[in-house]
Amino acid sequence: MSTSFAGKRVVVGVTGSIAAFKVAGWVSTLTKEEALVDVVMTEAATKFVAPMTFAALSGRPVFEDMFTTEQQGGISHIGLSREADCIIIAPATAQTIARLAYGMADDLLSTTVLAARIPVIICPAMNVQMYEHPATTRNLKTLLSLGYQVIEPDSGVMACGEEGSGRLPEWEQVAEFVLREICTKDLGGQKVLVTAGPTREPYDPVRFISNRSSGKMGYALARTAFRRGAEVTLISGPATQPVPGGVHFVSVTTAVEMYKAVMDHFQDKSIIVKAAAVSDFRCAKQFDQKIKKDSSSLIMELEQNPDILKELGELCDHDRQLLIGFAAESSNIKEEGRKKLIGKKLDLIAVNDISSAGAGFEVDNNQVTLIDSAGEAQLLHTSKLKTADLIWDHVIANKMLKPAGSKSP
Ligand code: PMT
Repeated sequence: MSTSFAGKRVVVGVTGSIAAFKVAGWVSTLTKEEALVDVVMTEAATKFVAPMTFAALSGRPVFEDMFTTEQQGGISHIGLSREADCIIIAPATAQTIARLAYGMADDLLSTTVLAARIPVIICPAMNVQMYEHPATTRNLKTLLSLGYQVIEPDSGVMACGEEGSGRLPEWEQVAEFVLREICTKDLGGQKVLVTAGPTREPYDPVRFISNRSSGKMGYALARTAFRRGAEVTLISGPATQPVPGGVHFVSVTTAVEMYKAVMDHFQDKSIIVKAAAVSDFRCAKQFDQKIKKDSSSLIMELEQNPDILKELGELCDHDRQLLIGFAAESSNIKEEGRKKLIGKKLDLIAVNDISSAGAGFEVDNNQVTLIDSAGEAQLLHTSKLKTADLIWDHVIANKMLKPAGSKSP
């Protein structure tokens, strides 16, 4: 299954807030990702951004008026919601939120929402006092009770100069929630723990031992699991990636910190994926001061870090928890992978061929072979996001999911 916007039909309802200009970027991104985007603007929205801007970015006419029929002769508010996969209302002003909470149907956007039987995602954006007013809080609760998805606004300095909650989030965050609404929830009910990125083992205040892991593979697994309906916890070393929207994020630096975080979080999870590149060794001694270049050589003693995955293999309840390891190998890929599968008591291992050009550490693509007790499956050389989806597809197709929550830890 594909977790992207290609071929999806999205209605974007724009209401009257200064943040409307940000949504022009969202429409542009959606259109570039091959979604068909119909923009519906309230009258107030047109005071902030000209409809022509949205028409140019979506390549489609913009809807403003309830009393004009579509080109094909249909009725806009019925046709729009009937044909779309979801409606995103962004920015959603306090006024629009109140009107939707009361089921008003006095303009094209409110009637479109009322006629809709598809996911509706509301992205509030307003002054902090308005956002925190009990009336807005009550109205947002009503929208949640009606089954609408409400995206929490960001905090920060606002256009009005005040500081607090009420800023429209970035599209990258919102997109995850939208995809979760429109994707098949084949990981629904699963609690997934993913580790990602490198660890850093310091030896003086400014230097450390680490590796080239960017976190891209692990973050892609967390992102796609969330989109497919799972509750996701991501434990990450210092990665280069933005935190994906919707996941519970735990930041760690060293292997020992990652070990502790994993031990704190794994017990209630139904799937555990260890995509992190954990340092096998740490420095036995940490210097308080930056090491000086006094001599021509420096001998540093290293001591072993805990093997988190191996310990998980022992501790996991394999009837209830699916344990997936990763391995980065440059030769004898399958033999080395199988050794780790058995040695660490894993249910499945994804072996990266790091000798393959454009795969493995840092890059956007990967080439993975999946190995379990039943056999092997070589996945396509493709993007890490697609690889993550293919791994979930494999888990589901091979009926590897454990009955979620069948037994409490
Ligand atoms: O982050 P990217 O730039 O996207 O790159 C992705 C990746 C190549 C880092 C990733 O896909 C990958 O292969 N991760 C595992 C790399 C690795 O450390 O392999 P390993 O063979 O050393 O370890 C095998 C497994 O044991 C891994 O699941 C690892 O998380 C785990 N391990 C290793 C050592 C240790 N002390 N504790 C562990 O849990």
